[in-house]
Amino acid sequence: MSDVDRARAALVDGLVATGRIRSAAVEDAFRAVPRHLFLPDAAPATAYADDAVAVQRVGGVPTSSASQPSMVAVMLEQLDLRPGQRVLEIGAGTGWNAALTARIVGASGQVTTVDIDPHLVDSAGRHLAAAGVTGVRLRCGDGVAGEPDGAPYDRIVLTVGSDDVWPAWVAQLAPGGRLLLPLAVRGSQLSAALDLGPDGVLRSHSLRSCGFIRMRGPGAVDDRPVALPGGGALWTVPGGPGADPAAVAAALADPREAAASPVGLGPADVRDGFGLWLALTEPGAGRLLADPGGELPAGLGAGSAVPVLVTPPDAAAPGLAAAVPGPRARVPAPQPGGEPGRGPAGGEVRVFGPGGAELGRRLHRALDAWAAAGAPGGPDWALTVVPDGVPAPAAGAVTVRTPHARLLLEPQARGSSTTSGISRSVRFW
Ligand SMILES: C[S@@+](CC[C@H](N)C(=O)[O-])C[C@H]1O[C@@H](n2cnc3c(N)ncnc32)[C@H](O)[C@@H]1O
Repeated sequence: MSDVDRARAALVDGLVATGRIRSAAVEDAFRAVPRHLFLPDAAPATAYADDAVAVQRVGGVPTSSASQPSMVAVMLEQLDLRPGQRVLEIGAGTGWNAALTARIVGASGQVTTVDIDPHLVDSAGRHLAAAGVTGVRLRCGDGVAGEPDGAPYDRIVLTVGSDDVWPAWVAQLAPGGRLLLPLAVRGSQLSAALDLGPDGVLRSHSLRSCGFIRMRGPGAVDDRPVALPGGGALWTVPGGPGADPAAVAAALADPREAAASPVGLGPADVRDGFGLWLALTEPGAGRLLADPGGELPAGLGAGSAVPVLVTPPDAAAPGLAAAVPGPRARVPAPQPGGEPGRGPAGGEVRVFGPGGAELGRRLHRALDAWAAAGAPGGPDWALTVVPDGVPAPAAGAVTVRTPHARLLLEPQARGSSTTSGISRSVRFW
């Protein structure tokens, strides 16, 4: 066995051991397709580490990558591919995921993959040829239009983040087909596997936390966080301009008090757990993000993000309240009484500025409501996507409007999702 074969075997063994790979079909594809041939400029050790590898950057920001193997495995399991299926991938990148997909659907199936960037389409073609993968249909174009030539598809998968469910994807999906996409939901990104029903509505089979490069072209949404005056942090309110960054910075300069959170909070809880809950239930809730490699300001901790409530720009008493994870944070079990033997719950509510106390009380109530709902994380929500022009079924608890659809979100108790055995949260791209 050569060094690269050994490295690939070790990667796949790890993905099986951690439950990222669960099916024989996905395991076979990972063992058979040599990732290093899709990353000819990377050292084999890099190609077989469980990391995303950027292959193109603009202004230092990655615009294409070979996605993290863990995430690719999780998404292939979410897709549940079968031999003979017709699959459309949007985001060809290096071509690696298209090669894995082609291996699973086999010679009787068909894989079409689209990238917006002609250079990447060319290089993906070279990589597929080097790996001996034939039959993948490579197209250059904007993925928001899908690829009508090969439709209908049993599966449509985006390996690039989207803020919307575009009509072409629904129109090109076969009856009962599955759309899988990294979908932006109020500041979180969820890998959403959605099954198309006979009523034209898409319902989630499974959700996972993810963090993909966002779409380029007309589907792009510029909601980059803004820097606070003086630096040290970024400020973002999903879906809106939110409070003036100068007011946020002024509030942070006026710390008032801290109180224990009524429910334990860990770093993942503030990101896609309580962070997503607050963003969905409190319009105008925002997130404070640490500068890359930095710490949050005002002693808010070493985490990368905290959910916050801020008074509106015209408030007489400006203020801010932040939910901060604790050092030994544990989320109590949803059942009354929790589990025996757990460590003390961590987490604090910190308030700033003269208007902070009232916001702190609101944040406490939101934390109580999140805990009472079973402390759902990102994967625990049920998501229904109602494309424009399709009548909505019974409304969900929360509705988020996108340009072409309504997203209806219902919280489920933590750990209740159908595929809870697999990884709940994976890192990047
Ligand atoms: C994370 S990479 C995909 C990784 C790829 N599946 C692989 O196996 O290497 C995301 C890709 O989406 C592409 N992309 C971005 N916007 C797009 C769009 N509007 N339509 C099609 N592709 C797009 C980027 O050029 C980039 O190559």
